[in-house]
Amino acid sequence: MKISKDEAKWVSEFIGSRRSTRDFIKGKPVPQELLDQILHDSLTAPSWSNTRPFKIAIATGEVRNKISAEFLNRWKALSKGRNAGFFGKAKLAITRYGLPTSNIKMSKPYVKELKPRAVRIGKELYEVLGVARGDRTARDAEWAKNYEFFGAPVELFIYIHKSLGIWSASDAGLMMENLMLSAHAHGLGTCAQGAVGIWDDVVRKEFDVPKDYRLLCGLAIGYPTDAPVNAFKAHRLAVDEITLKRK
Ligand SMILES: Cc1cc2nc3c(=O)[nH]c(=O)nc-3n(C[C@H](O)[C@H](O)[C@H](O)COP(=O)(O)O)c2cc1C
Repeated sequence: MKISKDEAKWVSEFIGSRRSTRDFIKGKPVPQELLDQILHDSLTAPSWSNTRPFKIAIATGEVRNKISAEFLNRWKALSKGRNAGFFGKAKLAITRYGLPTSNIKMSKPYVKELKPRAVRIGKELYEVLGVARGDRTARDAEWAKNYEFFGAPVELFIYIHKSLGIWSASDAGLMMENLMLSAHAHGLGTCAQGAVGIWDDVVRKEFDVPKDYRLLCGLAIGYPTDAPVNAFKAHRLAVDEITLKRK
């Protein structure tokens, strides 16, 4: 399929116009045929030896609500324990309820090279959300929205096959981007969510996940609201910031 120069320009603009959605219209379902279409489009991404080493748990309706409720309870326990004094922290350590059961490394600090980028997005996003610097309670309340999937009616849990290591994660990422762009083209919003990757056991309780697969992340899908957070434009790097210099 060949496209004209004008169409190519439009494609670049369209790709660049995808942004993470962090506020969805609650109770507005995604029609099944539309969900099928974007999942179908996700599978046209390239893949390592065409293996597509991933599986997706699709949570909607009752199961979505059940998982979200358990996530929220765990997040409340985790946030309370972290922000409390000695006894609160001790309770968290003893009961372990709320502590990550998967992707534990995620809560480790960023390395020096990447930290400024992560700090920047956090600062700019929280500014839009009206969360003051150092206000842990407000910040945790905002983060809790991850566990309501920002109100999205559909939450995908992306699992990758352990055997292929980085290639599994890479293939899942390519699949997710295809899915997100297709969703965007159909008027849907999406948000990839590492935040929901820390309690794999909750998802496994509801879905038949093979033991050779591990949870990579979640992905919220739904119709975006007009909330200012959805107009937030994350900083984009310049190309020369990622290209390597010749020796
Ligand atoms: C694997 C992955 C995990 C992410 N996890 C979260 C998350 O847990 N919560 C969140 O609000 N955004 C999350 N994001 C969204 C990023 O913050 C976002 O893509 C980035 O800031 C660039 O903004 P944009 O998507 O609007 O272009 C995640 C993105 C990716 C690719």
